[in-house]
Amino acid sequence: MDGLRDTKADSGSMAFHNEFGPDSIEAKDLKALLHPTTNLKEHAQKGPTVHRSAEGIYLTDNHGKQYLEGMAGLWCTAIGYGNEELSRVAAEQMKKLSYSQLFAGKTNEPSVLLAERLLELSPIKDGKVFFGLSGSDANDTQVKLLWYYNNAIGRPEKKKIISRKRGYHGITIASGSLTGLPAFHKEFDLPISGVFHLTCPHYYSEALEGESESEFVDRLVTELEDLIDREGGDTIAGFIAEPVQGAGGVIVPPDGYFARIQEVLARHDICFIDDEVICGFGRTGQAFGADTLGIQPTTMSVAKALSSAYLPISGVLVPDFMHEAFMSRSDELGVFGHGFTYSGHPVCAAVALRNLELMEEMNLFQRAHKTGLSLQSRLSEFRDHPLVGEVRGVGLIAGLEIVKKKSPREPFHLTQGVAAHCAASCQEAGLIVRNIGDVVAVCPPLIIDENQIDELIAKLSIGLDATLTWAKKSGLMT
Ligand SMILES: Cc1ncc(COP(=O)(O)O)c(C=O)c1O
Repeated sequence: MDGLRDTKADSGSMAFHNEFGPDSIEAKDLKALLHPTTNLKEHAQKGPTVHRSAEGIYLTDNHGKQYLEGMAGLWCTAIGYGNEELSRVAAEQMKKLSYSQLFAGKTNEPSVLLAERLLELSPIKDGKVFFGLSGSDANDTQVKLLWYYNNAIGRPEKKKIISRKRGYHGITIASGSLTGLPAFHKEFDLPISGVFHLTCPHYYSEALEGESESEFVDRLVTELEDLIDREGGDTIAGFIAEPVQGAGGVIVPPDGYFARIQEVLARHDICFIDDEVICGFGRTGQAFGADTLGIQPTTMSVAKALSSAYLPISGVLVPDFMHEAFMSRSDELGVFGHGFTYSGHPVCAAVALRNLELMEEMNLFQRAHKTGLSLQSRLSEFRDHPLVGEVRGVGLIAGLEIVKKKSPREPFHLTQGVAAHCAASCQEAGLIVRNIGDVVAVCPPLIIDENQIDELIAKLSIGLDATLTWAKKSGLMT
């Protein structure tokens, strides 16, 4: 992320790329694309990695090298790549009805059936689903709906939102403000006012010396209560959380954390916005992260695994009491003024619906629970590795904290790029993982089997050992 601070990006970067022919896709990429969430200067110097094809849990680059996709793309390709059934459903729906809208009361069958299925699956049984296209727009919608709701019921002061440091909720103006990672705020003039970020519930990195896990939770609860006292409960509309924080470094909160937080929120009538964009649909070994972590959400955001990333689609699930409040304004306001051209796109909805059916036919949530136990147990073997300070995770999502010294804990300096080196070494060994600061994240497609978990572990081990050798040779550790 450091490169994001550099305003003097090297416009002569093509000079570094003698190895790319002028007609290569790499050279054309450098000429034509502005890459999201990328160190732009580093990219201009190194050039892109070109993905050519993918099947199951394996991805192939344009040199024919195959990788085990240990990150499910961006935490999203749950059912794996190249599913014939989903391509067939998309093609058929395109032929039958390639587009229809949900504006002005129009509808289409795939959207209705998908909404019905989502409500059956989720803890919000009596509610409605609003469709969008991305996790960011879903969380933007969440903020707008809470504002609209509180205006509708005569509480115009109740608008502020509480989020957490290291939470990731997207990058649009509202969702980017909810995100608690500095790289997504700096130079973008975010966060907007009325958004607060509490301490990340990561015992390993945030606990004070000598503090027990339950004392740590007490402190986080007190922090929430203090914020509510300071701002006034009647000014705070919502609290947003991922059950397991993903892009902030795979943080599983301590036992009892969400129960205690929810107790406080309920006392102040603050809605719990459950961001299930990563955890939703089996990632933690149950349908939703809320099921695994004991959350009773007011509303939910879903995306990513909803369609296993075959097509973009997101959903916001709102309870009927909010919908009734929205309706109460119809006579005076006319239309409910929120919606996207592609809300309820029939092709996206048809693919998502079939994706959820396939997940059910494959017993994928139960299967992810079982393979998740294996993955966590195999990863825990790395606890003895000199570079690994903590192994954490649940189901098929995990993080390894890379440290210079285990006890007393000493991190590497981020600019030394040790976790990044590890991700690159894994890639060399044929495994895609992702470094997030000091963390190496693992989040394979939910269809991964036991043999493939062995393969993932073997390649990760090669990557960690290569990084250790490099770190010692470079004098970064003894
Ligand atoms: C928990 C969570 N919420 C929201 C988002 C934003 O989703 P999108 O990138 O589709 O806008 C992400 C993306 O990684 C996410 O992990």
